[in-house]
Amino acid sequence: MELSDVMRTTAAIREFTADPLPDAVLARILELARFAPSGGNRQGVRIVAVRDHETRERMVELTKPGVRRYVAQIKAGEGPWNPLTPPGPTAEEIAATKVPDSFIEPLRHAPVVLVVLVDQAALASTDQDLDRVGLVGGASVFPLVWNILLAARAEGYGGVITTMAASQEPAVLELLGAPASHAVACVVPLGRPVHQPTRLRRREVAEFVTRERFDGEPLEVTSP
Ligand SMILES: Cc1cc2nc3c(=O)[nH]c(=O)nc-3n(C[C@H](O)[C@H](O)[C@H](O)COP(=O)(O)O)c2cc1C
Repeated sequence: MELSDVMRTTAAIREFTADPLPDAVLARILELARFAPSGGNRQGVRIVAVRDHETRERMVELTKPGVRRYVAQIKAGEGPWNPLTPPGPTAEEIAATKVPDSFIEPLRHAPVVLVVLVDQAALASTDQDLDRVGLVGGASVFPLVWNILLAARAEGYGGVITTMAASQEPAVLELLGAPASHAVACVVPLGRPVHQPTRLRRREVAEFVTRERFDGEPLEVTSP
């Protein structure tokens, strides 16, 4: 596939066929993905490739609390997990919220689930002293994660970045035997897609890029 086609069609894949994703293919995907950048080239990412079903069931349980809050906030008309306003629904309402299958079934049915961790000692987190949620640290992780999904797409596979288990980070680290110095970035089920979407709904460039200033002229794309 052309790189441009890969970039235009790498969608969130949550339904997988029964096809395996052999270690040889996984190794090819990771072999390409490893060329992603990280702050200061510190390369602090650690990935645990989980195939064991018991471990996945534990991951499912650790995913549910984050999903409950996400869904409860959506139902309340809020931006789920946004760092600016605490959730309107009470802890009891959140605990009583049903978890949609789409959030957990991929963890059960994908042939492999990648748990992406990062060694915080290797992070150059230049926004850590600001009075807001940290953003820069993730930039040393997610280029690699996206490379995985691009390389998987080129191989005919797919997956989805999931982040709900991050809210249960200590338990995830304990489950995988990872040191407490590590952070959970995301969990990525990977497999052969049942459906491969070809048109992604994304904003046009002019809707989010301006010239010179935030309130500047939109940057129009004339020849996509
Ligand atoms: C940072 C991040 C966190 C995400 N977390 C989840 C998640 O926890 N569960 C899930 O099913 N999808 C998750 N997604 C997938 C998004 O919902 C998906 O990428 C987006 O809706 C676009 O989907 P599309 O590429 O199929 O159009 C996440 C994506 C990103 C980038």
